[in-house]
Amino acid sequence: MGRLTSVLVASAYKHAVRPILFRHDPEIAHNRITALGEKISQRRIALSVIRYLFGQRNPLLKKTVSGIEFPSPIGLAAGFDYQAKLPWVLEALGFGFATVGTITNRPCSGNPRPWLGRLVKSQSLLVNKGFKNDGIVATLKRLQNLPSIMPVGLSIGQTNSPKIDTEAKAIDDIIACFTYAEGHPHQCRYYELNISCPNIQKHISFYSPLPLKKLLEGLERLKISRPVFIKCPVSVSDEELVGIAETASKFSFISGLVIGNLQRDRTHPTILRDELAKCGPGNFSGLPTRVRSTELIKIIRAKFGTRFAIIGCGGIFGTEDAEAKFAAGADLVQLITGLIFKGPQLVSEINHSLTGHNLLWK
Ligand SMILES: Cc1cc2nc3c(=O)[nH]c(=O)nc-3n(C[C@H](O)[C@H](O)[C@H](O)COP(=O)(O)O)c2cc1C
Repeated sequence: MGRLTSVLVASAYKHAVRPILFRHDPEIAHNRITALGEKISQRRIALSVIRYLFGQRNPLLKKTVSGIEFPSPIGLAAGFDYQAKLPWVLEALGFGFATVGTITNRPCSGNPRPWLGRLVKSQSLLVNKGFKNDGIVATLKRLQNLPSIMPVGLSIGQTNSPKIDTEAKAIDDIIACFTYAEGHPHQCRYYELNISCPNIQKHISFYSPLPLKKLLEGLERLKISRPVFIKCPVSVSDEELVGIAETASKFSFISGLVIGNLQRDRTHPTILRDELAKCGPGNFSGLPTRVRSTELIKIIRAKFGTRFAIIGCGGIFGTEDAEAKFAAGADLVQLITGLIFKGPQLVSEINHSLTGHNLLWK
């Protein structure tokens, strides 16, 4: 994408599209964007125009991580395309990969609404969805015809139900979901094991070594055919994340760590008081996750060297934020909130800037 096109699209998004989108309830806005993306995905000409404007990738952006070739190191994080409706348009926008889900073994109706809030000044979204999804059986059907150029991954978590109320039940539930996914055809290239969703009713923690070891031992027995990345929390101490990584490092099927998920800390200095006062339950994406995720990437890279592929995630709103994650040790990065706040040109803009730097090819 040319510099001028990028500036024009960014400006049109900021001054015309975003004000309209942000006037609507965030869930309605998200549903409309998804419906539009789905329509575009079915029209070849529209996809070609978008790809012409945004999706032309410099071959230098290609990166092979955990045996998968990524056409760009910038991906879409779990939580935006729950139902795998958008991979085609995401690829045309310049994304190098996308994670679908989080999905669960059983269908989930999610937490009581509202599911989403918007903190414009704090550059954050309040998320309280609680894994609203159709379950593995229905979702897998949609994962059988994905674009071949862009890897798509599947995020799996524990079913959000009051019935899954013990560690043993949560482990069985997650294993059942992976078993189903492995036993049926689909084109996902990697899995994310989401142990860090802060929004579920009966949160069974896998942050301490023993429960995590039990879960990973159960999954190891499945001899999973694709790389597995653990989606890690950011609202933990350095020691807690190192503990998670230490346990994970003993399981060769765990290829990498996604660092990380939403910010739980409501006193975080980036969350402005007046916006917080209007927030119901939930946890925060965007700016409140940015610094901590980068710090944790640095710690894990320093302590574990190349044992893990690291996918940096949290608060990427532009090239500098992505570069900070790469400089800290990330192999790939993911985003959601930046796309919503900055517009559809963001990924193309970052792709373009990265080819002018040497951070990717060290
Ligand atoms: C609307 C929304 C829904 C999310 N749902 C999930 C989810 O289902 N699974 C998951 O692992 N992370 C989920 N997340 C967290 C994101 O994947 C990501 O870790 C976090 O938002 C930080 O990235 P960002 O600042 O670029 O948004 C969600 C985030 C948002 C904004």
